[in-house]
Amino acid sequence: MSSNHNPQNDSAHDKEFFRTFGMVLGALGAIFAFCIFAANLIVPKAGPSEAEKARLEARIAPVAQVITDPAMLVKANTSTVKREPLTADQVYAQACGACHTSGVLNAPKLGDKADWSKRAAANGGLDGLTAIAIKGINQMPARGGNPDLTDDEIKATVKQMLEKSGV
Ligand code: HEC
Repeated sequence: MSSNHNPQNDSAHDKEFFRTFGMVLGALGAIFAFCIFAANLIVPKAGPSEAEKARLEARIAPVAQVITDPAMLVKANTSTVKREPLTADQVYAQACGACHTSGVLNAPKLGDKADWSKRAAANGGLDGLTAIAIKGINQMPARGGNPDLTDDEIKATVKQMLEKSGV
C-alpha cells in the first residue's frame, strides 16, 4: 500500500493550501476594492447640469429648419425683419466700405468732397442719393448688395457718408 501516507503530513498540506488560498482571496478582494474606488473617480457623480444640457442641445441642434406650416412661415419672416437697426458705421463696414473706401469700380470715395458735392447737387441731395443707393445704379448694387438693409439704414449711412465727405 502507499508507503509514505502520513496524516500529519496531510494536515500540514491543508494548512499550506488554506494559507495560499487565503492570500489569493485577499489579493482579489483588494483588487476588487481598488476597481470600485477607481470607477468612482472616473464616473461623474451627477448628470450634466441644466445649463450644460442646454449648451449641448444648442450645439447639436440642426443648422436650419424647414418650415412647412404657412402660418409659421409668416411669423418666421416677420421675426427676421424685426432685428435691431444697424448703425451707419455698421452698415458702412458691412455693405459699403468695400467699394467706397477704396473707390473701386469708380465708386465715389468716402471723403472725396468734390465728387460727393457734385452727385448730391445733381441727384437731389440726401433723399435723392438715398433713393439711388436703394435702387442701385450702374456698378452700384441695390442696397450695397444686402437686401436686408432697411431704407432707414441706407439713409442714415448715406447721410454719414456725405457728412464724412464734408458735404
Ligand atoms: C460693389 C461696390 C459698391 C458697394 C458695395 C456700394 N457701392 Fe455705392 N457706388 C458704387 C459705384 C461704382 C458707384 C458709382 C455709380 C455711378 O455713378 O455709376 C456708387 C455710387 C453710390 C452713391 C452715389 C449715387 C449717385 O447717384 O451718384 C451712393 C449714395 C452710394 N453709392 C451709396 C452706397 C451705400 C450706402 C452703400 C452700402 C449700403 C454702397 N453704396 C455700397 C459701388 C458700390
